[in-house]
Amino acid sequence: MTPQQNNGKIALITGANKGIGLEIARQLGTQGITVLLGVRDENRGREAAEKLQTEGIDAHVVQLNVTDQSTIDAAARSIESEFGKLDILVNNAGIAIDSVPPSQLDIEVLRRTYDTNVFGVFAVIKAMLPLLHKSDAGRIVNMSSGLGSLTQNSDPNYEYAQVKLLAYNSSKTALNAMTIQFAHELKDTPIKVNAADPGYVATDINQHRGIRTVQQGATAPVRLATLSADGPTGGFFDENGVVPW
Ligand SMILES: NC(=O)c1ccc[n+]([C@@H]2O[C@H](COP(=O)([O-])OP(=O)(O)OC[C@H]3O[C@@H](n4cnc5c(N)ncnc54)[C@H](OP(=O)(O)O)[C@@H]3O)[C@@H](O)[C@H]2O)c1
Repeated sequence: MTPQQNNGKIALITGANKGIGLEIARQLGTQGITVLLGVRDENRGREAAEKLQTEGIDAHVVQLNVTDQSTIDAAARSIESEFGKLDILVNNAGIAIDSVPPSQLDIEVLRRTYDTNVFGVFAVIKAMLPLLHKSDAGRIVNMSSGLGSLTQNSDPNYEYAQVKLLAYNSSKTALNAMTIQFAHELKDTPIKVNAADPGYVATDINQHRGIRTVQQGATAPVRLATLSADGPTGGFFDENGVVPW
């Protein structure tokens, strides 16, 4: 395929070797953005990058395990030395490993979930912020979930009201809270921070039980990653608009 016309923007997507993250990288890459696939397994990452390269996308692999600070720091250093800045950070890496009612949840499962879905995102944002400040239009997108919405969770008529996964759901609620906190701190800078709900998408995280495609799931995060200067910050959106907190 013909290489995309590069527009000089650099995007890092965590957990981009498969699922929605890979599709976000594809859609951003198709817009001429250089995409850095943040992956914990370099071999899987290389395969994904090669696939995107055959589609004409400028894709690179960055080894990054969001629960391993040394890999996050090394990733920030290598992006700094190779690209000098970061325009877009999509915190997509996430896990869903609980399946029992709250009273039966093993605290280690709760800890591991928060390590990836909450502390991991915090660590990556903190490490990448100096690079995002070097962009004239930095964008941070946190991959949340409708299951993280307290409004929806507390509504017995919510479509997924039966899905009460304490670890996963509350980790996304915490991620939403983090989104508001960072957006507030950065409100007088060009950097916008938003949370995205991709909907229920068929991927490995749900054994492909989701009802939407990765193309559909990537729509909201890609839109938030490419917001213009007059776009929102500190919000929670799916492809149809605002999602209640
Ligand atoms: N699918 C849905 O219905 C749905 C709905 C709402 C929100 N989401 C969110 O969307 C995001 C992407 O999920 P998905 O559906 O695409 O699931 P997925 O196919 O399982 O992809 C998850 C990605 O995260 C990576 N990852 C997990 N732990 C990591 C770590 N410690 N460091 C770096 N990468 C790590 C995985 O890498 P490995 O391949 O190495 O495991 C994989 O690339 C998640 O945050 C998820 O919570 C998904």
